[in-house]
Amino acid sequence: MEAKRKKNLAVLVSGGGSNFAAILGAIDRGEINGEVKAVISSNAQAYALTRARDRGIPAYVCARGDYEDLPARDREILRILKQYDTDYVLLAGYLGIMSPFLLEEYPYRVINIHPALLPKFGGKGFFGIHVHEAVLAAGESESGATVHFVDYETDTGLIIAQGKVKVEKDDTPQTLQSRILDNVEHKLFPKVVAALCDDRITVQNGKVIYSEEK
Ligand code: GRF
Repeated sequence: MEAKRKKNLAVLVSGGGSNFAAILGAIDRGEINGEVKAVISSNAQAYALTRARDRGIPAYVCARGDYEDLPARDREILRILKQYDTDYVLLAGYLGIMSPFLLEEYPYRVINIHPALLPKFGGKGFFGIHVHEAVLAAGESESGATVHFVDYETDTGLIIAQGKVKVEKDDTPQTLQSRILDNVEHKLFPKVVAALCDDRITVQNGKVIYSEEK
């Protein structure tokens, strides 16, 4: 059988980029039939940019404040995505919202990881440590992470996969955050990206069909 073409990936970030690093690790281990062609950050200070440059991956800053408005920023992002013939856009800790015209170019080809069990604890204001503060304040017995397709609202797109952790009695937002990152996010996100790159994830009649078998 002919080997499938490697997929071109673009990773959008705003912060530390530990999920981006997890994806690079999986690529290095030969688990993902894809290549990160470009990293785009909404924040010039993001450590994720250093990770990209250290690997010789083209890294771009598209900060909201540097453009007239959001569509202007997103036109530049689209230009970069097209330059690299991007197959999949991976939001890995990206804090921006995406203009509809950008999403329309990549139907079911933009995915995000969110550090909670959506639909709970998603939407406006639920980002970073605030998510975990809210989970603890609500007295939840479990939390986790969700990988989903991005649609026109925040954290509402079709869910592809979730992973869970138990909330412990002595958890702080920080301990819960780091357990979810280590035990769920850094495994779940590369696993879903691997499946996408193998064409094992499709959407039929509004439902995600995910074949976990390689
Ligand atoms: C992760 O918790 C991710 O779920 C959320 O933002 C955080 C990014 O962390 N969307 P990192 O930049 O990948 O380390």
